[in-house]
Amino acid sequence: MLQMRRANIIDHEFLVRIDLKNDGYTVSDEVEITEQEREEHSKKIERFLTDSDKGAFIIDDSDFNKPIAMIMYSIANRDSVYPWTIFHELDEKLFQSDGRFMEIFQLWVHPNYRRLGLATKLKLKLEEESQHHQVDLIYTHTEEANRHVIELNEKIGYKEVRRGPIWDEVIRVSLIKKLTDDASVVMPVL
Ligand SMILES: CC(C)(COP(=O)(O)OP(=O)(O)OC[C@H]1O[C@@H](n2cnc3c(N)ncnc32)[C@H](O)[C@@H]1OP(=O)(O)O)[C@@H](O)C(=O)NCCC(=O)NCCS
Repeated sequence: MLQMRRANIIDHEFLVRIDLKNDGYTVSDEVEITEQEREEHSKKIERFLTDSDKGAFIIDDSDFNKPIAMIMYSIANRDSVYPWTIFHELDEKLFQSDGRFMEIFQLWVHPNYRRLGLATKLKLKLEEESQHHQVDLIYTHTEEANRHVIELNEKIGYKEVRRGPIWDEVIRVSLIKKLTDDASVVMPVL
């Protein structure tokens, strides 16, 4: 049986392993990461399990007592300085007044369980979670080549708001879902 739950510290190793897979991303070279980079990555992922502005959900297959899907998110701010930022390019009116929004960090479903609607379920779960954090916008991006991921998002109401390189030469498509009934918010049509 498949069951969704909030991730906890027991899931740390699973989340680290999946994030390092880079499944669904163009990886420019095969350079091994150093021990120090591995440690920093592990700490970064741990914050998704400990920090109040981050979180993750897992789907377990209870028949095998194993996690088979995950999603990770953080609450970000349009005005924060990241190593990269493209949020200032988006229409300011899309954001709530304090600039906060939810950013999806990672989404993965085990190959044996794909096309069962699990990624869709995890993304819909984040809509509930964003209410808990009092944010009304969810942001995600994916590589332009991931047509199926774009379709997955569009099927549940995400709209494309930007297309172009972000931190490297890969063209990425940025999509948002605005969780509001406010008729004055006009979603962009690209
Ligand atoms: C992308 C991924 C998360 C999709 O998970 P999933 O649980 O299979 O997705 P869903 O079953 O919710 O798919 C919903 C819809 O998205 C589209 N879709 C998803 N995967 C697709 C595929 N491989 N080919 C074509 N359409 C696809 C379909 O429209 C699908 O609806 P349908 O099955 O009724 O046709 C999964 O393939 C994965 O983990 N890939 C590797 C990691 C990755 O790419 N993550 C996203 C990085 S941005």
